[in-house]
Amino acid sequence: MPLTRRKAIALIGGGSVLAASAAGGAWLATRTPHDARAPWGAAGGHGDARLDALSFAILAPSAHNLQPWLAELHGRDSLLIWRDTARDLPATDPYDRQLTISMGAFLETFDLAAGKAGHGVETRLFPDVATRPGLEPVAELRLADGGRHDPLADHILARRTIREPYEEALPPARALAALDRHAKLITEPADVAALRDLTLRAWEIEAKTEAIWRENVDLMRFGRAEIEARPDGIALGGPMLEAMMLVGILSPETQADPGSQAFRATLDLYRRMLPATPAYATITTRGNSRTDQIAAGRAWMRLSLAATGEGLALQPVSQCLQEFPEMEGPRAEAQAALAGSGETVQMLARLGHGPDAPPAPRWPLESRLLGDG
Ligand SMILES: Cc1cc2nc3c(=O)[nH]c(=O)nc-3n(C[C@H](O)[C@H](O)[C@H](O)COP(=O)(O)O)c2cc1C
Repeated sequence: MPLTRRKAIALIGGGSVLAASAAGGAWLATRTPHDARAPWGAAGGHGDARLDALSFAILAPSAHNLQPWLAELHGRDSLLIWRDTARDLPATDPYDRQLTISMGAFLETFDLAAGKAGHGVETRLFPDVATRPGLEPVAELRLADGGRHDPLADHILARRTIREPYEEALPPARALAALDRHAKLITEPADVAALRDLTLRAWEIEAKTEAIWRENVDLMRFGRAEIEARPDGIALGGPMLEAMMLVGILSPETQADPGSQAFRATLDLYRRMLPATPAYATITTRGNSRTDQIAAGRAWMRLSLAATGEGLALQPVSQCLQEFPEMEGPRAEAQAALAGSGETVQMLARLGHGPDAPPAPRWPLESRLLGDG
């Protein structure tokens, strides 16, 4: 039975009203994007060591969940990994820094998965191969002997980006000590307070800068059908949001309009969520070359997996690191507060105890493979 406007409004208002009715319960059960989450259940078991490692690597985090990677199998044991430049974010990420970091996270996940399966990986970054329209070569990989099982690999399937308020209490010292080797942690109350303020200011600049927000809205997937059709970008799903879509409160048009109820609701959500942060983690590099950015992505992946292993939540708050002109002030503040001389802050993230979340959408592995080279 379709959801009526009246029931949708009841759901928005009361939350449990719809769930309590039989029709509502049935409707809720249909809102889960099973296909978009299927890659999380399909990792491993492909009968080919490269495909197995790739099936884990596609679960790596990426900016706006753009999954900018494509892989091409070569011969019996090699692969070429490309970055799909059709997925660039020209307004938000004008130098492709965040997308290159994403490629680093992908490569690290590949290595961890291959290592767990007993394979070493020989990597040549940015190989000198013939370029192709819309593709940039990122790495040539070859599976070799000598793989090592790194315990971080055991957390690949459980890792999530958690976009919720975190508990006020600082994570226990033992957990912080385990993360300390992967990132610089910020736990001093005055420093944390300054970052809460900076990250919220930066988020509001992003939301109120038209070209940047437009790029965000274009990447939003509104409801289960869109998420299943394009399992990337910013997934807006679940019964509450779908009910809002049904009654016209939430749509690409209302999200793009700073005067709308939907836009104000998003702003309120972030005003509640971002300050609910007891600690931050940051990854910096000495330089800011493509190789540095890949290294930052690898480090980000290792930090994320270590946090998962410690039962902690992470969410990047990248706005104040972005290179568009309106962000220049907050960006300079973030660099001054977090980077040493000559260093670049590549990742800044909230850290704490948060609730669990379902896995984010992914394109299936087959769609990330180019024809045999
Ligand atoms: C370079 C980079 C920047 C990111 N910036 C943000 C951010 O500013 N806010 C956010 O909520 N998530 C951010 N993320 C997390 C991605 O949105 C997330 O990885 C993606 O949606 C997939 O979800 P998952 O990590 O739960 O698998 C970032 C990830 C990367 C790699």
